[in-house]
Amino acid sequence: MKRVVITGATSGIGKQLAQDYANQGWQVFACGRNATALEALGRHSNISTRQFDLTDAEQTQAQLSNLPGLDLAILNAGSCEYIDDAQQFDGALLARVMTTNVLSVGYCLQALLPQLQPGSRLALMGSIASALPLPRAEAYGASKAAIAYLARTLAIDLAPSNIGVSLITPGFVRTPLTDKNQFAMPMRIEVADASRRIIRDLAKGKAQIHFPKRFTLLLKLFGALPQSLWQTMALKGLKQ
Ligand SMILES: NC(=O)c1ccc[n+]([C@@H]2O[C@H](COP(=O)([O-])OP(=O)(O)OC[C@H]3O[C@@H](n4cnc5c(N)ncnc54)[C@H](OP(=O)(O)O)[C@@H]3O)[C@@H](O)[C@H]2O)c1
Repeated sequence: MKRVVITGATSGIGKQLAQDYANQGWQVFACGRNATALEALGRHSNISTRQFDLTDAEQTQAQLSNLPGLDLAILNAGSCEYIDDAQQFDGALLARVMTTNVLSVGYCLQALLPQLQPGSRLALMGSIASALPLPRAEAYGASKAAIAYLARTLAIDLAPSNIGVSLITPGFVRTPLTDKNQFAMPMRIEVADASRRIIRDLAKGKAQIHFPKRFTLLLKLFGALPQSLWQTMALKGLKQ
């Protein structure tokens, strides 16, 4: 029986991944804070749950340092908050998003990496938002840019230990996180579709996992433009 630990398993993409891996016969360690959601997941015979706050280094160490023999770790948990007024910059918001999306990943890595066996895989959840500067995304985009750098660096440093690293950078997926957004979300896909693509590409050992391709490739292309050109396009888009 293969073993996977998934953070952010109580909602959205992580919840779907936990259910899908469990249904495929994996032993799943599902993490989150929401007790009701964890209890529901735990009814599946292949799912064990861990309830803790990832932003608490001690709790994370205590809950994740006893999972030996892992085949896969998916560090998926995250939150999204926008900077509505850059001139009145909300430093506390930036700190919150960085703590949840970046610092917590460091705590997870410290607890989990000693338990990842040769041939196993680590997957970090980024976002295609990190491919280019998007309005109001100062905090969220910066946090996911940090995750992208972390993943690509870990891929080099963990290769000698035969631990593969994947960076997942989805476009829009319908989850409670995106249900809050008031703006148009082109090519948003369903969470079951996202989970299917992630599981398929992790099984193939892909280092970069992104979807839906028509959207993510377009954003990567815009991200490769000179900043001045992209800035003009972004400002025009904001005026419409
Ligand atoms: N949806 C999208 O379009 C999209 C696109 C690109 C990337 N992503 C990324 O995909 C990941 C999952 O997003 P989602 O859309 O599935 O969001 P979601 O439905 O809001 O789920 C977020 C998950 O993160 C967990 N979490 C947040 N803060 C936590 C904390 N302090 N301690 C423990 N767990 C915590 C939540 O668990 P509890 O509430 O139980 O704590 C929940 O399970 C995020 O990293 C997000 O940035 C999403």
